[in-house]
Amino acid sequence: MTTTAITAPRTAATFQDDPNWWRQASVYQIYPRSFSDSNGDGIGDLNGITAKVPYLTELGVDAVWLSPFYPSALADGGYDVDDYRNVDPKLGTLEDFDAMAGALHAAGIKLIVDIVPNHSSDRHEWFREALAAPKGSAARDRYIFRDGLGENGELPPSDWNSVFGGPVWERITEPDGTPGQWYMHIFAKEQPDLNWDNQEVRDDFLTTLRFWSDRGVDGFRIDVAHALTKNLEGTLPSQADLDARGEALFLAGEHPYWDRNEVHGIYAEWRKVFNEYNPPRTAVAEAWVHVDRRARYASPEGLGQAFNFDLLQADFDAAQFRRTVTKNLAEAEASGASSTWVFSNHDVVRHATRYGLPATGSSAEGEIMAGQAGKRWLLEGGRQEDVNIELGLRRARAASLLMFALPGSAYLYQGEELGLQEVGVEIPDSERQDPSFFRNRGVEIGRDGCRVPLPWNTGGSSFGFGPGGSHLPQPEWFAGASVEAQEQRADSTLSLYRRALSLRWELQSAETLEWLETGREDVLAFRRPNGWTSVTNFGTEPFALPAGRLLVASSAVDGGELPGAATAWLQA
Ligand code: NOJ
Repeated sequence: MTTTAITAPRTAATFQDDPNWWRQASVYQIYPRSFSDSNGDGIGDLNGITAKVPYLTELGVDAVWLSPFYPSALADGGYDVDDYRNVDPKLGTLEDFDAMAGALHAAGIKLIVDIVPNHSSDRHEWFREALAAPKGSAARDRYIFRDGLGENGELPPSDWNSVFGGPVWERITEPDGTPGQWYMHIFAKEQPDLNWDNQEVRDDFLTTLRFWSDRGVDGFRIDVAHALTKNLEGTLPSQADLDARGEALFLAGEHPYWDRNEVHGIYAEWRKVFNEYNPPRTAVAEAWVHVDRRARYASPEGLGQAFNFDLLQADFDAAQFRRTVTKNLAEAEASGASSTWVFSNHDVVRHATRYGLPATGSSAEGEIMAGQAGKRWLLEGGRQEDVNIELGLRRARAASLLMFALPGSAYLYQGEELGLQEVGVEIPDSERQDPSFFRNRGVEIGRDGCRVPLPWNTGGSSFGFGPGGSHLPQPEWFAGASVEAQEQRADSTLSLYRRALSLRWELQSAETLEWLETGREDVLAFRRPNGWTSVTNFGTEPFALPAGRLLVASSAVDGGELPGAATAWLQA
């Protein structure tokens, strides 16, 4: 077994220099434009983050992952990068970045930044050059340009669909004004895909990784890590062909652009750069790949860790949770990585809302999945009256507490520590920003609902988000969910997260667990090697807790009985 067990209690000092700091870290994702606004322009910024470092310290997180803060037209919330080695002037300057990194580090908090290598924005200087340069030029070779089909190249090179809806190919106008070649974009048309067969592209990203590592960044989250390499030789298969070949295509690594085997050559080069630093820089892959292929991304010779979104897609169901945890721990052990756990991020319906939705849809295994319930709720317009808010929150608190007891890294998303619900229909269509809303022509309301600026106070022009307004409208109910409101209450979700994260820091031990017999199918219990025990009641009937000192519970424990939809930690 290659996993490195933590054998002695962590201290702030050992954590800082420990090359394995990431293995069981609690990582807090900040979506910078919606976290805290220092200058009142309605957009969160880096100085806003610096001002909230005491909050992060009190919350007890080990690391912060910053979603993109680079110059961007925000065609896709910053995942359309104009310049990989700069800060968006709307968010601050490089000096502000250094001040923020310094403040986080002084508080013992590591910093992870997002790298977006699959595509740049269409405002990137390379893409402008490509548009101005002739067909076949070196400038065009940095992207994926192809001639169209049809007599005059008027048809796209293939009929493939983009992730956000609409085609993956966009036709350009040549510098002489005539209709010209087509370029590929897996996401929005403002996000042209880079050509990873091009050495200059490869070298430039190594420069970017060193640029941020030299500035003290501790790790990287790699956006769409599984799409970089492509095979577009010869006649391209149709979308129907690709769909028909289904899972077999993915398992063979033969899809023209998802999860091709060659992509790992890139990460092997990146690993060499990460290892130039002490402690080595870390990386986590965002790779929505077949489960059997995920471990490749997490290899120590590659990125080192990969997100698994399995719990995020599971229903609040004991059997699904147990199977998912067991499988992922085994997979992590085999790859030498530690496991990752995540319930919410900037791309999905918040878990407090998902768990309050009627179960719907079914996976290949015939199971009901909360991830699909969230999707469907978005498609149906996102009405709060369709959500059982009380139940959703109870379950979310229980699930989060379970996650914090698991071996591996826990990734949490800003606002989940407030038990925030997704904002749905309250955002008028005229104020929506997400390209998945626009490219689907309004069929699905998109991801703006988890990106609404955080409520810090019970009142004010933007509930304390900043001295001005808020770039997405905040609903009235944010007042009661705010940090200010929750700090007063010992039973608030914020208080629960603070207590749980501080205990997690103290109790963290070797990366294993043992399942305990509970005598009930809807109750899961596991024990870590040091006796730290977590019990979750997924059902509705109370469960008599085993012997042990009660450390924390997601709902009140009365007379030693754990109510339904609740988790408790015990020290055996
Ligand atoms: C994944 C990111 O998490 C998402 O927000 C973005 O839209 C796509 N990658 C494209 O960069």
